[in-house]
Amino acid sequence: QNRQMPKEEGLDHSLKLLKEGYQFIINRRHTMQSNVFETRLLGDKAICLSGSEAAKIFYDNDKFKREGAAPKPVQKTLFGEGGVQGLDGEAHKHRKAMFMSLMSKDDLQEIRRLTKKYWELAATEWEAQKEIVLYEEVKKILTRVACEWTGIPLDENEVAHRAEQLSDMFETPADVSLSHFKGWRARSKAEDWIEELVKEVRNNEREVAKSRALHAFSWHKDHNGELLDENIVAVELLNLLRPIVAISVYIAFTALAVHEYPEKAKSLKGGDSVQLQWFSQEVRRYYPFFPFTAAKVKESFTWNGYEFEKDTLTLLDLYGTNHHPDDWENPDRFEPERFSEWDKSPFDFIPQGGGEFDIGHRCAGEWITIDVMKESLDYLVNHLSYTLPEQDLSFSLTEIPTVPQSKVKLTNVERII
Ligand code: HEM
Repeated sequence: QNRQMPKEEGLDHSLKLLKEGYQFIINRRHTMQSNVFETRLLGDKAICLSGSEAAKIFYDNDKFKREGAAPKPVQKTLFGEGGVQGLDGEAHKHRKAMFMSLMSKDDLQEIRRLTKKYWELAATEWEAQKEIVLYEEVKKILTRVACEWTGIPLDENEVAHRAEQLSDMFETPADVSLSHFKGWRARSKAEDWIEELVKEVRNNEREVAKSRALHAFSWHKDHNGELLDENIVAVELLNLLRPIVAISVYIAFTALAVHEYPEKAKSLKGGDSVQLQWFSQEVRRYYPFFPFTAAKVKESFTWNGYEFEKDTLTLLDLYGTNHHPDDWENPDRFEPERFSEWDKSPFDFIPQGGGEFDIGHRCAGEWITIDVMKESLDYLVNHLSYTLPEQDLSFSLTEIPTVPQSKVKLTNVERII
């Protein structure tokens, strides 16, 4: 029997979404006492979902599709147009396989090696500086890692500029003001930069190792057996570069966690891989990054008596699900050891999306993210000594994405050799 879905009255709540950020869905889940409710966004009816039970529905390919789900501003900055995020069915599966083919054991080992190498190089420079801003420095480290890992050439004097360009794309997606324009311009310039390299590879004017993404994507054939359009190759290469640099957000939070929970960080001394893993997982669960992800109802269906009408925009609360009391005990405490008992459900711990990698939209870079975080955490705790001077380490739950206000300043940085 059909029931009326709890509903927020009013014409449009898009501005509230921008204002309330990570708490938009949680606030309404509380007031309406429901993991499913209806609101209005971008001038239309929209459904919000939260918690692992609802996540299971969201990742059912018979029920939801991605075509037309991402609003234009997000495509113009964060995703790029024509990329894997907006594909469905066979086209998606084929394109996703292109990404997942880069995630072998060797590929992951290579990115760990590069992460360590560039932390070491940067730390040597920090020793001579009075103070560094960790978030800004790590963006540069990860720009080097991302470019070398994908086979994109990067001159020493280009590092700061490219780091800024790549971060402008993820620092501005939800903004409707001047900074959105900054993100839009950064994307179009970055696409030009990468497209030029793809042309050179295809004209045999540039050598790049077969194992690197620049090679693999330039020669990838789609499900119809055709090479991808040069612009799409650029969009997909940026789908590697941009989010690798974005791991700097999690690394800023990692440093914050080490500072705020020194008792928990003690177990990391000595660099035990399992301890590094639990700590990094808890950073990804506890701190905010992607607030939600979006899809559209593929065909009308009924779930728990609620009707989901074809083409309705539907948001899945990622941050809220990671903190959902139905799924987590004491969700608002930072407790890495909770991961000793986690059952690896694909639906309750979803900072980078849920469901399956190959046929769903779960983040292609989740293993990379965890490995880069573990390597960075190990470096911070076991290879560096530093002091945190007086600063504002608070972070906003209404700005998307958010980082500690001070971006984590460090002084007296020394390598422990
Ligand atoms: C998709 C988060 C890092 C590549 C996604 C999604 C989220 C996400 C929420 C969408 C899931 C969905 O809609 O169901 C993050 C976060 C990261 C991160 C928080 C931390 C920095 C990475 C890295 C890479 C990457 C390092 C690549 C090297 C992708 C790709 C997709 C994706 C290609 C699209 C997958 C698809 O549509 O099938 N990510 N990601 N991400 N991510 Fe990540």
